[in-house]
Amino acid sequence: MKLKSASCQLAYWEGGSLRIVNYLTRRMFSANPIALELIRFFFTPHTIHDALNEFSSYSRESVAQAILKLIDAQLLLESGSPEWQRDALVESSWKPWLPAGGFHFLTKDAAYVGGDWTVEQKMKVLPTTPAPPQFKTIGAADPIALPRHEIDPDSFFETLRARRTHRTFAKGKVSLASVSKLLETTWGVQGYLQTNVFGKLPYKTSPSGGARHPIEVYLMALRVDGLEAGTYHYQARDHFLEKLPVKASPRVARGYCADQPHVAEAAALFIMTGIFSRTMWKYHMARAYRVVLLDAGHLGQTFCLTATRMGLAPFSTAALKDSLIEKDLGIDGISESVLYVAGVGLAAGH
Ligand SMILES: Cc1cc2nc3c(=O)[nH]c(=O)nc-3n(C[C@H](O)[C@H](O)[C@H](O)COP(=O)(O)O)c2cc1C
Repeated sequence: MKLKSASCQLAYWEGGSLRIVNYLTRRMFSANPIALELIRFFFTPHTIHDALNEFSSYSRESVAQAILKLIDAQLLLESGSPEWQRDALVESSWKPWLPAGGFHFLTKDAAYVGGDWTVEQKMKVLPTTPAPPQFKTIGAADPIALPRHEIDPDSFFETLRARRTHRTFAKGKVSLASVSKLLETTWGVQGYLQTNVFGKLPYKTSPSGGARHPIEVYLMALRVDGLEAGTYHYQARDHFLEKLPVKASPRVARGYCADQPHVAEAAALFIMTGIFSRTMWKYHMARAYRVVLLDAGHLGQTFCLTATRMGLAPFSTAALKDSLIEKDLGIDGISESVLYVAGVGLAAGH
């Protein structure tokens, strides 16, 4: 069996100790000089026997122990194993955005507060120091008071003002026509821009860095009148849904969103993923990772405003069980990864 050093490694100092983390698997390791030498050696695939020969000035036992610890920390991977293949996929598909792009993987599958925690329990995990000020005042001598404008009822401004995050919903179904309108308005193609260099680029209602539109959306229909409960991929170019072979239920929906109880009451979820290569192809600098997240944010706001305008009750959440969702959607979580979930129900009281 040959071992190879994981490429998804970041090293940093913490309190005088050198730590190495596999940012794909989020396993952390406290490194010592022999471990570093071993990691370097195994960047070319080798057997344990090769390493014992190479490091013969150390006792066989200490070398073997260090190798076992590195295997346990997933800093050494069995060449050709599924773990090695995932590691290689990150290295190949994220290359231009590494190492900064490691942030994406390091922050997946976070430990969330329990969905059934009381307010007191949640308060306990907050810092004991006061929250930072919510507004900044420079304290200039002559601040210039600005006029307030009247908001016309039934105007764009009224929709903006009416948008709220809803966490209670009526039990009824949302119509397929409404879901279709939400999809088309938020993620659908509104037209195309013909360019000399980049060919035909889609226009959507939200802006997207370089018109790369890296965000995909999957619909989890829970209570949609006229559509079988299930999870579907939305094909934005031609405005159609394709069903995935995966169970959709209020319990699954809640599980996807860090066990938040209100998610189980929603009529439909809109699960946004990013296909990073679309943006990366044009923008090689890691900063463009921010652009993918900003794009998802724009779509989230467009969705919430559209739903508000339609008299529906929208919400959004970034507290997600990434790997669970990605497995169900049949995506690898590397070239395409889940980013954001929006949802909708009938407004409570309807
Ligand atoms: C990126 C993002 C993530 C959010 N995640 C959650 C969440 O996990 N759970 C939740 O109840 N609300 C979530 N919210 C909603 C906020 O709590 C909400 O926007 C905020 O309290 C302000 O209320 P409003 O949306 O009604 O103006 C999220 C909002 C955004 C923009």
